[in-house]
Amino acid sequence: MPTRRPPDLPERDVTPEAIYQDRRRLVRLLALSPLALAACSPKGEAGSPTPAPPPPPAPGTALSYTPNPAFRTRGPLTSWQDVTHYNNYYEFGTSKSDPARYSGAFKPRPWSVTVGGECEAPGIFALEDLIKGIPLEQRIYRHRCVEAWSMVIPWVGFPLGTLLKRFKPTSRAKYVAFTTVDRPGQMPGLSYPVLDWPYREGLRIDEAMHPLTLLAVGVYGRVLPNQNGAPLRLVVPWKYGFKSTKAIVQIAFSETRPVTSWNQAAPDRYGFYANVNPDVGTVPWSQHTERRIAGSGFSLFGNRIATRLFNGYADQVASLYAGMDLRRDY
Ligand code: MTE
Repeated sequence: MPTRRPPDLPERDVTPEAIYQDRRRLVRLLALSPLALAACSPKGEAGSPTPAPPPPPAPGTALSYTPNPAFRTRGPLTSWQDVTHYNNYYEFGTSKSDPARYSGAFKPRPWSVTVGGECEAPGIFALEDLIKGIPLEQRIYRHRCVEAWSMVIPWVGFPLGTLLKRFKPTSRAKYVAFTTVDRPGQMPGLSYPVLDWPYREGLRIDEAMHPLTLLAVGVYGRVLPNQNGAPLRLVVPWKYGFKSTKAIVQIAFSETRPVTSWNQAAPDRYGFYANVNPDVGTVPWSQHTERRIAGSGFSLFGNRIATRLFNGYADQVASLYAGMDLRRDY
């Protein structure tokens, strides 16, 4: 298994082999150059003890929030430009630049979320009502993709558990599933069978209730741009990024494990748990190292750093998996 791959081949670098051919076809159809994607590989200083600098000014509506000093991350932040232009959001296309390029027509408001399944207070809630009274905080988290790139991002949001408790999950609620909106008219990528749409992900209930698990409504102090999952997206920092569902319209509690998009597409490669683990990887992605996209200066190969178990959050989340074989239950 290779431990290093050239990041100047981003299309192959980021694409599961099973869907690689489909995506090549998609890129051809959209007449896009995958080389355009190689633009964002700034050199970072991950692991340095420097505290993160304050966010630079960014476009979008400013949010009112309180920085939470308990959730800071060492090393420089990933730039606003990279956070918002190097994205995975296949509903808008499979290239990293597609979400920013093709999400302009997406309407994140008005928005409502349907909550159901094993809970005593289900319903359909307007976003404003859903989050009414919940204070927003800024948390700086590491963000690690299964494609072995990583970022450091200042999210604005609130603990998912704070919201989930409002729906009074029953004792049978062992899992919670999240579904992304399905709007073919505004999401051009939905025309291609890259996944069995809509995008679905899920967590075990104790993972969902863990204080690290965040629902984000903003980034860099501003409302989430469409390409980052506006108006509401999950952030689960100790798991690979594909667990972090964007543009959530449905939350469902269940007794049994929900079917999730990537696990359904390629179960050998994308486990349900998807906990970041340097010792568990599959072709084409070894997970021993990651390319940190943060800091300043350009580097063709990015800044390669060692992957940390649970993305560096082991002291907070390892107990969730006590007694489990992480190599088998990945
Ligand atoms: N959510 C939806 N609906 N569609 C997607 O394609 N991609 C996932 C996740 N959530 C994805 C999604 C993957 S693979 C990653 S790494 C993160 O979003 C990327 O989040 P970012 O673009 O904000 O960095």
